[in-house]
Amino acid sequence: MRNQDLYQVFIDELQDMYSAEELITEALPLLTKSSFHTELKDAFRDHLKETKHQVKRLEKIFSLLDLPSKKKLCKGMEGILKEGKELISHKKPSLVLDAVIIGSAQKVEHYEMASYGTLHSFAKHLGLEKEILDLLKESLDEEGAADKKLTKIAEGSFFSTGANEEAVGKEKEEL
Ligand SMILES: [Fe+2]
Repeated sequence: MRNQDLYQVFIDELQDMYSAEELITEALPLLTKSSFHTELKDAFRDHLKETKHQVKRLEKIFSLLDLPSKKKLCKGMEGILKEGKELISHKKPSLVLDAVIIGSAQKVEHYEMASYGTLHSFAKHLGLEKEILDLLKESLDEEGAADKKLTKIAEGSFFSTGANEEAVGKEKEEL
């Protein structure tokens, strides 16, 4: 592939991620609201802050390339979020719903990890400046950490400790 072709593919992917991050920013408050466990709510609140930084990083990359920040609707993310919303809607917060939410959120994270990984590798191949590579790597690492945090919450924290029974107890009280 000629470098000019790869550069165009890189820009398309950048515009796709700019759209994806916006869609995620809009969806995260619903995940926070629908979560039962405080640790999960906090994780989503933190990730909303990170996502806003990721949007800023993409805008910085556009400006370093002397391009306007432009979005191209990310159909992949639109579909993943739509599926997640369908699973969550009209359900009361519960531990089971938390497990569903974590599964959906991890699909989002993996899409983003794949996209930032691709962008980083294209940028490297194109010989783009180090600042662009660093910005992409920062977001890639952040998504990876968010994914690991979700796994930790699901496996290490409340599903396998006393907090689980405590939460189930609370659910029963509410019935
Ligand atoms: Fe993100």
